[in-house]
Amino acid sequence: MRELLRSLPALSGTAPAFDAEAVPDDPLELFVDWFTTALSRGVPEPHAATLSTADVAGQPSARVLVLKDVGPEGFAFATDARSAKVEDLEVNPQAALTFWWQPVVRQVRISGAARFLGEEASAEDYLARSPRSRAAAASVRPGRELASVTDLRDAMARSRARIDEDPGFVLPTWQAWLVVPDVIEFWQGSLDRAHARVVYRSCEGGWSRGLVWP
Ligand SMILES: Cc1cc2nc3c(=O)[nH]c(=O)nc-3n(C[C@H](O)[C@H](O)[C@H](O)COP(=O)(O)O)c2cc1C
Repeated sequence: MRELLRSLPALSGTAPAFDAEAVPDDPLELFVDWFTTALSRGVPEPHAATLSTADVAGQPSARVLVLKDVGPEGFAFATDARSAKVEDLEVNPQAALTFWWQPVVRQVRISGAARFLGEEASAEDYLARSPRSRAAAASVRPGRELASVTDLRDAMARSRARIDEDPGFVLPTWQAWLVVPDVIEFWQGSLDRAHARVVYRSCEGGWSRGLVWP
């Protein structure tokens, strides 16, 4: 593996033109610009991000999920209240979201406190999902031991029947969350390693920003 890993290229995408010294005041504007560029340049599933959390002992944990919304308030995702990530966030709301868009050699790092968006937003998110994904969410017990794959398939079939019968059913454990950013970093890789890093920090009345060394 050592030889194989060392033979693999990194930063092999094509970075779009980017002037790190001419960025907008609002990081959200830059995020939307980078996101839409990623999409138009064929980045697969650019809305997938790694959410990092830590438990009460500081033990970190990270997993991929999809971004559900983004706006001046923050970055929204949805998940099950019984999941490990929610257990973490309930004792330690500090979280990070990391996007890696390989074809454009861009990474976006967001960190801040996460907060539950409430029952209405959670129900709205749940009902916006396809019947199949509502059934899947309704049949699982996140992280609990599963005796067999058949048990999972059977539970999904039962949930699907229930949802087809009652399309207004809302899974009570489904939750929408928001990461409220304190820091947002835009990173663009370069083959000569002169990577661009622009870091925005939230401050009284808006955002401060600056370049940092790679
Ligand atoms: C591309 C992709 C998208 C995913 N989207 C979500 C999501 O939106 N919400 C979610 O709870 N889990 C999502 N998952 C599953 C999570 O990675 C994870 O397995 C699950 O949420 C349990 O994580 P936890 O036990 O650390 O809480 C996704 C996984 C992948 C690979």
